[in-house]
Amino acid sequence: MGSLSNQGVSKMKEIVLTTAPQNGLQGVLNVPGDKSISHRALLIGAISQGKTIINHFLKSQDCLHTLQALRQLGVEISEKNDQMIVAGKGIDHLQPANQPLDMGNSGTTTRLLLGLLAGRTFNTELQGDASLSRRPMKRVSEPLQKMGAAIKLTSTGTLPAIIQGKKLWGKRISLEIASAQVKSAVIFAALQADGPTTIIEKLPTRNHTELMLQQFGAEVVTAVDQRTITVLPHPHLRGQLVQVPGDPSSAAFFMAAATLVPNSAIVLKNISLNPTRIGFLRILQKMGGKVSVLKQANVPETYGDIKVESAKLHAIELTAADIPAVIDELPLVALLAASAVGTSKITGAAELRVKETDRIATVTAELHKLGIKITELPDGMIITGSSNWQPRAYQLDSHGDHRIGMMLAVAALCVHQSLTLQQADAVNISYPNFFTDLQQLLGQSKQVRL
Ligand code: S3P
Repeated sequence: MGSLSNQGVSKMKEIVLTTAPQNGLQGVLNVPGDKSISHRALLIGAISQGKTIINHFLKSQDCLHTLQALRQLGVEISEKNDQMIVAGKGIDHLQPANQPLDMGNSGTTTRLLLGLLAGRTFNTELQGDASLSRRPMKRVSEPLQKMGAAIKLTSTGTLPAIIQGKKLWGKRISLEIASAQVKSAVIFAALQADGPTTIIEKLPTRNHTELMLQQFGAEVVTAVDQRTITVLPHPHLRGQLVQVPGDPSSAAFFMAAATLVPNSAIVLKNISLNPTRIGFLRILQKMGGKVSVLKQANVPETYGDIKVESAKLHAIELTAADIPAVIDELPLVALLAASAVGTSKITGAAELRVKETDRIATVTAELHKLGIKITELPDGMIITGSSNWQPRAYQLDSHGDHRIGMMLAVAALCVHQSLTLQQADAVNISYPNFFTDLQQLLGQSKQVRL
């Protein structure tokens, strides 16, 4: 368990997608743990003193790459079902890895480790798969270089990266891209610097790193503008119990499915309601979705149960300020827009072009196959809704992108023809049990094997 070799990394699996039953999606689902929080709990646990217990950890390929990398850096991590126990080494005691660290497909692992390893006394090499090796890393190396880091990338600013451990300085860093990964890399570097660091974000992004570091005892202060963060170096971090809430980005697939398929009513349990992550919930409500939050608790992360029922939707316009809180759910917003009344427009979302795939291109290509009127913009999409899609092709493709694959499985519920999905195994990146959980809500307990 927990190794990458037994997580079904096999390629190119094609599956037949399910169409919706008469009585829609029904039931209660515990969605797997949040991906962003699972990564951070391992990383912060590793640099704290003493034991960190992580409950409801997400055992997906991306998070297992973080786990494996930390083990190579000398951190002991044991596991029991979805509980991880990290024997923290303290902030200055990671050990050099004797081989390059394999980042797989995980942008979060890569970018957070670039920051966490920049101020060490040793060098580290990071490598990634073909998709990750196309993604931009200068956005991280450049701000870190201002703090004294030495990170060597390829001539195109991509992996593989060689991090030469250096002494880091506390600085004032203005970030040009709204990215929680970049911000988190700078925060991790700031913990190792010689003085305080202030980070100014372009727009507020998910704040799990800040909240978790505070829980572990660091001084990380966010100003009232929500985009200026001050980090004091060399905190005394102590191991903690981390209860990972359900991933709102995974929950969003079922929220969309229950909305689009008539006669549905589902409850998703213990989902993160962190204000920086609920863009999709808010957008669905604005489009006319029937969504209610049933219960809330908020220590240190807010979470609750979400009830979703079928609804008829109307079009929406999103601009740059809306994007960070819904960045991973934009393929699903495009799908909702495809069945809404009216024409929707998403702009200010050029970041989609540098995700696991160019999601503006892959969403447009795949929804076009389903007969949806969708046009690419340089930084977004225009989508005209219809209640009667006329598919032009029956073989859909995830393009190796987990979120595209899951969005297409939801889209298929609204189509009467039989559709297949190629590279369906991409779901293992963030949600290995996705198809089984979908079948459960569809009342079809058939096991789906990839
Ligand atoms: C993440 C931040 C987001 C998101 C990614 C996870 C994180 O990326 O798309 O899936 O855990 O910090 P950016 O911050 O680069 O937009």
